[in-house]
Amino acid sequence: MNTASDDQQANPNATTRRTFMEWCSWLILGVGSVATAIPILGFFLGPVIKPKSDEWVDFGPLDEFPEQMTRLVDVLNPLRGPNDGMTGKTAAYVRRIEGEKFQIFSPHCTHLGCPVSWFQESGLYMCPCHGGVYYEDGAHASGPPPRGLYEFKYRIDQGRLMVLLGHLPTLQDPGSAESTGKTA
Ligand code: FES
Repeated sequence: MNTASDDQQANPNATTRRTFMEWCSWLILGVGSVATAIPILGFFLGPVIKPKSDEWVDFGPLDEFPEQMTRLVDVLNPLRGPNDGMTGKTAAYVRRIEGEKFQIFSPHCTHLGCPVSWFQESGLYMCPCHGGVYYEDGAHASGPPPRGLYEFKYRIDQGRLMVLLGHLPTLQDPGSAESTGKTA
C-alpha cells in the first residue's frame, strides 16, 4: 500500500497540491470567520463608536417660514448610517410665532410614537393611532399622551434656521428636547 511519503516521492506535485488545498481551506475558514464576526462586533460596538450627540441641521432661510404658520420640514437625520436608506430621513414641525421666535416639534406622538398631523384650520396636532391631540404650542390637549410634543432646540445663524436634532426623543431619553418640551 502506498503511503503519503511514497506519493510525494513518486509525484512531487502532490505536496504542492495538498499544501495549496490546505491554504485554500484556511483562507475560506478565515473569510467566513471574519464575515461572521463583523456584524456581531458591529452590534456590540455600534453604540460606542456611533456619534452620541445631536447635531445642528440647516432648515433653510427664515423667509421660508411665514409668521403664525406651521409647516412640516423633511431633512436627513445627521446621525444616519451609510446603509440607512429611507430610514435616514427625519422631519420636524416648524412653527414661526413671530420674528425670530420659533417652536420646532418632533412629529412623533409622545404616547407610542405615531406621526401626528397638523391641522391649520383647527390649530391642532392629531395622532391617528389612539386619538391624542395637541395644541399648536405643542401642549397636550387630550387623549393618552403623557405630555406635550417634544420640542427641539434651535438658533438663528446668518438668517437661517438651525435645529438641533438626531436622536428620536423618548420619555426615557428626550435628548435635546428635554428642557423645552411641555408637560401635560
Ligand atoms: S401613539 Fe399617539 S395617541 Fe397613541
